Amino acid sequence: MRHALDLAARGRYSVSPNPMVGCVIARDGYLIGEGWHHRAGEPHAEIEALRGCDARGATMIVTLEPCAHHGRTPPCVDAIIDAGVARVVVAMRDPHDAARGGIEKLRAAGIDVTTGVLETEARRLNETFIHAVTHRRPFVLLKAGMTLDGKLATVTGQSQWITSEASREKSLALREELDAILVGGGTVRADNPRLTRRLGWNTSAAGWTRVILDRSSVVPPDASVLTDGGSTIHITRDADLDELLAGLYGQGIHSVIVEGGSNVLSEFISRGRWQKMILFVAPMVVGGATAPSIFSGDGIAKLTDAPRFRFDRVETVGEDLMITLYPGGGELGVGGGSEAETSAPSSAAPSTPSTLSPTPHAPKPTP
Ligand SMILES: NC(=O)c1ccc[n+]([C@@H]2O[C@H](COP(=O)([O-])OP(=O)(O)OC[C@H]3O[C@@H](n4cnc5c(N)ncnc54)[C@H](OP(=O)(O)O)[C@@H]3O)[C@@H](O)[C@H]2O)c1
Repeated sequence: MRHALDLAARGRYSVSPNPMVGCVIARDGYLIGEGWHHRAGEPHAEIEALRGCDARGATMIVTLEPCAHHGRTPPCVDAIIDAGVARVVVAMRDPHDAARGGIEKLRAAGIDVTTGVLETEARRLNETFIHAVTHRRPFVLLKAGMTLDGKLATVTGQSQWITSEASREKSLALREELDAILVGGGTVRADNPRLTRRLGWNTSAAGWTRVILDRSSVVPPDASVLTDGGSTIHITRDADLDELLAGLYGQGIHSVIVEGGSNVLSEFISRGRWQKMILFVAPMVVGGATAPSIFSGDGIAKLTDAPRFRFDRVETVGEDLMITLYPGGGELGVGGGSEAETSAPSSAAPSTPSTLSPTPHAPKPTP
C-alpha cells in the first residue's frame, strides 16, 4: 500500500478535480502490475495497473475504493471482476456519492476485500478532494509569511521580504497544488502581486483563478491581477464567505490558497472557514501595534474563547520555520477513523447558489 500511495502522489499536480489514486497488483509476493491516475478523464489507476498483466488469482492493492459507476470512464469494478482478481485491499472508501458501492459489488462477485489499510495516509494524501466532495466547498489553505511577533508587514506596510527565498519558492510550489488563490484588496493595493501559478508544474484540467475581496474598491484599475489577462474574480461588494466558497465550488474550484493580508486571514480564522494553515516564520521581529498581523480585530478577552489549533509539523525552510496547522478538533478526520467515519454523506452539506461572475473552469470530478 505504501508503494500504491507513492504512485498516487505522482498525480499531485495533474489530477484535480479528481482524487490521486495509485494501484499495484501482486501475486506470490511479486509485483506484476502498477498504475496511477494521471488526469481527469483518463483511465483510473486500477485500469492502468491491469494493463499488460495477467491478474487472475492476484491481489490488487489500491488507495481508494474502486468506482462502481459510469463517469467519464467505465466502472473499475467490472474490469477487476473480469480480470479474475481474487483479493482487493483498499485504503479508504470513496467519499464521492456517485462513486460509492464498489466494495459491495466486488464482494458480491466473490472477491475477498480488505479495507482501511493505511487509511490515515490515504486520507491525508487526498485531504483537499475529501473535503471538497464531502462539503461541496473548496478546501481552504491559509498561508502567510510572518515575523516571530506574528507581523505580516512593518508599520509602514513593507512586507517584501520577510521570509527567505527558499520559503518563497516553497510558497510558489504550494500554489501548484491548488485551483485558486484569494487575497484582500489591501494586499493588491500595497504589493501589486501577480498571484500567478508560475512554476509550470500544474497540468490539471482545473484552471487557475485569482479572487480579490475588495469591498471598499481600493484596488487600482491598473493592478496586475486586473490587467494581465489571467482569470480574476474581483468582488467589490461585501462577500459572505459561505456563499463565496459555495460559488467557487460551483465553478469547479476544489481548493483555494488564501494568502492574506491581515484583514482577510482574520476573517477566515475568526469564522472558522479554513481547513489547513501553513505559516513561514522568519527569525526577526518588527513590532508596532499598527503593523498588520496574522490575526487582527478587536481581540479576544478570555483565553477560553480563543480558537485553538493543532500543530501538525514543523520544518526548517531556508532560515525560516514552516509550520503546518489544522483547526482544532480534526474536522478533516485526518488521523484515522473507521469506515463509517470516512463516509460522511455530502447531502448533509448546504448548497448555496453561486453569485460570482462566471469564469471558464474545470469540469466537476468524475471519479
Ligand atoms: N507577509 C505576508 O504573507 C503577507 C501576505 C499578504 C499581505 N501582506 C501585507 O498585509 C497588508 C495588507 O493587509 P490588510 O489587512 O491591510 O488588507 P487585506 O486583508 O489584503 O485586504 C483587506 C481588504 O479586503 C476587504 N475585505 C475583507 N473581507 C471582505 C469580504 N468578506 N468581502 C469583501 N471585501 C472584504 C476589506 O474591505 P473593508 O476595508 O471594507 O473591510 C479590505 O478592503 C499589506 O501590508 C501586505 O503587504 C503580507
